[in-house]
Amino acid sequence: MSLFFDDVYFSKEGGWEESRYVFLEGNRINIALLNETSKPITIGELGFGTGLNFFMTLYHWMETKSPPSLQYNTLEGFPLPRETLHSLNLSFPDKDLWTEFLLESYTIQLQKWKEGSQNQSWDIQFSHPNGKEKFDLRLYFGDVADCLDLFPMVDYWYLDGFSPSKNPKMWSEETLSKIRSHSRLGTRLATFTAAGFIRRNLEGLGFTIQKQKGFGKKREMITGILL
Ligand SMILES: C[S@@+](CC[C@H](N)C(=O)[O-])C[C@H]1O[C@@H](n2cnc3c(N)ncnc32)[C@H](O)[C@@H]1O
Repeated sequence: MSLFFDDVYFSKEGGWEESRYVFLEGNRINIALLNETSKPITIGELGFGTGLNFFMTLYHWMETKSPPSLQYNTLEGFPLPRETLHSLNLSFPDKDLWTEFLLESYTIQLQKWKEGSQNQSWDIQFSHPNGKEKFDLRLYFGDVADCLDLFPMVDYWYLDGFSPSKNPKMWSEETLSKIRSHSRLGTRLATFTAAGFIRRNLEGLGFTIQKQKGFGKKREMITGILL
């Protein structure tokens, strides 16, 4: 729970499954990963938070037999401290998430950012068990208004920046138009929200938007594709 934004990082009930349903399946990445011949995949996430979406994607990628290489670009303006990240492990005890190595590496880079270092990102690479493909995580520390400019062109967006009513900046026209300028034909997006003005603004930028059934008891969510 974020006291500042008065909203949750992820749902206590089925957080892992919800992340998978909304972002991985909502974007059809599970299908794209089965296409062994496809070129590397680039994901862009708004709001790294606890890293749950990242770990869910990494797990799925690791479990796929021969997936394309994947670049996971994400950003975070209010990075969580080591102790809070570590507590994600307690929420999902059957999974190997924040190892000591990852926590240490994140903490060092976060400290450098806090001290005003030029290097704004935490970069780490994972190898697939088959020894061939790579999964590259790049986490930019800083505000969405600055970090999105540093993103490469993205194939799949995870729009996970708290609800639009609680955090309008993550859904502002400026943010959405930067999402558009870092998208190409065929780029998909998925988000848990179905707010009417978000749908309309994304449509105004050229995305074809679909309302879908939300996870569990949630009524709706939206997905989109740039055509
Ligand atoms: C719903 S949480 C993300 C949950 C996350 N994807 C996870 O898997 O745990 C939204 C995140 O957006 C971040 N955030 C909110 N406003 C921001 C801004 N203006 N710039 C950068 N990050 C922001 C928050 O700090 C929070 O971590």
